[in-house]
This record gives sequence, C-alpha cells and structure tokens, in this order.
Amino acid sequence: MTVCKLPPMRNATGNETPVSPPARPLSALDRARLVRRIKRLLKEQDAVLVAHYYTAPEIQALAEATGGYVSDSLDMARFGNAHAASTLLVSGVRFMGETAKILNPEKRVIMPTLDAECSLDLSCPADEFIAFCDAHPDRQVVVYANTSAAVKARADWVVTSGIALKVVQHLADQGQKLIWAPDRYLGAYVQKHTGADMLLWQGACIVHEEFRANELQALMRKHPDAKVLVHPESPPAVIDLADVVGSTSALIKAAKMLPARKFIVATDNGIFYKMRQAAPGKIFMEAPTGGTGAACESCAHCPWMAMNDLHNVAEVLARGGNEIHIPPAVRAAALIPLQRMLDFSKSLNVNVWASGNA
Ligand code: 13P
Ligand code: SF4
Repeated sequence: MTVCKLPPMRNATGNETPVSPPARPLSALDRARLVRRIKRLLKEQDAVLVAHYYTAPEIQALAEATGGYVSDSLDMARFGNAHAASTLLVSGVRFMGETAKILNPEKRVIMPTLDAECSLDLSCPADEFIAFCDAHPDRQVVVYANTSAAVKARADWVVTSGIALKVVQHLADQGQKLIWAPDRYLGAYVQKHTGADMLLWQGACIVHEEFRANELQALMRKHPDAKVLVHPESPPAVIDLADVVGSTSALIKAAKMLPARKFIVATDNGIFYKMRQAAPGKIFMEAPTGGTGAACESCAHCPWMAMNDLHNVAEVLARGGNEIHIPPAVRAAALIPLQRMLDFSKSLNVNVWASGNA
C-alpha cells in the first residue's frame, strides 16, 4: 500500500488527523459477513447509505446494492431529501454531512467518522473568514461547497465546481466585486475565465495540488490518443493541459460521452469505480502526482475519504453516535446561500455538479 506522507493536519476538534488510510484487510468471508450485517442494520435503522465518488469501491458498491446513492456532495444531499428514510448515513467528509443536514434538518444525519475532514474546509476557519469578510464589506462573498456550515452562513453564495463560473459571471456582469474562498486554484480558474474582481482565500486541496504538469506532459506524450480530464482544484499548469475541466460528475460524464478509449484523470482515484461503470472497456490512468519518483509518496487519494470503511459504517449503525448537529441559527443562515445557488441553477436549468468546461 502506498503511504501518504503529507504532513498531519489538525481536525476541527484539534486532534491530529491521521493521513494514512487505516490498514484493516478483510478476508472475503469477513467482508461478506460485514456487508450482510450492514444491510440488516440499514433496514432496522430506517437508514439509507449515501456515498461520495471518492469513497472506496466497496462502499460505493454497497450504497448501490442497498438502494442508496453515489454522487457528489450536493447531489448526495438532494437524494437524501427525496428519499423516505429517516436516517441518512453519509459516507464522505464532514462538510458533506453538514450540507446534507442543512438541506434535511428533520432527518438524522450520521457519518462513519466525524474525523473525516477536508483540507479546504480546514484552511478556512469561520472566525478568521468572518473577520476577513467584515474587512471588505463592499464585496459579495462566494464560498465553495467544501466549507463548514459556519462559513457558508457568512456567505452570499455557495457554489460547486459545476456552477462556479456561471455564478461568478452573473455577479461580474452586475459589476459586483467578490471574495472567493477557500480554493485558490479553483478561484484563479474562475477569475481567469470571467475576469471578475476577486479576492482569493489561499486554501488548497492537498490531493489535487499534488498533480504535476511536467510529468503529465510526459504521460501525454506516451499516450497521445488519451484525453485528459482535470478537476479544477488542480494547479493552473495542470488545468491548462486538460481536454475537459469539470466537477466530479462532469468528468464521469466526459469519460462516457467522449469517443476516446483512453483517459488520463487528474482527480481522486476513487472516481475510477464510477468511470469504469459509466464507460466499460475504456482505459483510465491516474495523472502523475508529486509522489512519482519523488520523496513524497502522495497517491491521488483523499486521506479523509479513505477513513470511511465497512467497519465504521457497520459501527455507526450498530452503536449510533457520529451525528451531525448544526446550531439552528447557523443552519438557517447557511441555507440561504445554498438555496440561492439551487434556485439560480434551476433558472438556468443547470445541474450544479454536472457542467464542465463551462
Ligand atoms: P465534487 O463536489 O465535484 O463532488 O468534489 C468534491 C471534492 O471534494 C472535490 O475534491
Ligand atoms: Fe477536500 Fe481534497 Fe479531500 Fe476533496 S479531495 S474532500 S477537496 S481534501
């Protein structure tokens, strides 16, 4: 197993977040037993499993096999809203559980672990962010979905990578000046394509910022017939090499729709499970990261997503706990910019997660 040696980070409770996936190999028999147990517990608890594309293939397969759902974070929350289950078991990272709770306040939202964070979310503590916004009262505040409920509560708009360009263009056309947080690479990409006046918070995704342009070019030379799919949380030099830049949903759609047989993919490798399902027979390669031949052995896989496994899915169902709670005032305030994005996307008839290269 490749061990990620990225520096440990602190989670919201101040504990050090382990950045290596837990090594808990299971025999095929144990795995089958655990899956049977989870299926039974989901029924008993009136729960539905909703998983992100970056979780382990066995979690995604389990969600599909039990009437749950695999998608991006907002679409996960939307599914939870439409589903009759009273408990949403959200397998992903904490901001996804929070988004689900903001949109589904009457439901119990639980997660396999509450220590699964996101470097973008961690880079943007609410108190510092609020002070920054207060120092620039003339600017509209646009935040990426990968933020805490408290940060969303201070925003005018929440955006996903699928609709960021359209929202920012809309605001720029009105002559609005903006604060953008927290991802500096996505922010720079949006700024370049819209010309908007944006102050950029300097956060980054520790997974996507590892993709390397020089090594990617070398791989492209080896596979000139491959199309390059890039998530916009990647550095600009990597984005510049892309055939398609887009959200997770957009990249899966591109893998299916483009006539190419080979793809080089610059996003978390958990996405390959859905890409292979959407485009069977096609070949998917990981874009090179800083780990390729270097001291850092990064692995194009989010260490926090990797904290979700069959054990903790079973545990949270059996023992309870790990429930998402958001103070009602924060939830109500965070719902406003989130709802604004949903209404805007409806008015454009855009799936906020599925548009790429827009
Ligand atoms: P999506 O919102 O495109 O699913 O991505 C979430 C994420 O964490 C990307 O790194
Ligand atoms: Fe956050 Fe990056 Fe992990 Fe996505 S892949 S959850 S942006 S740390």
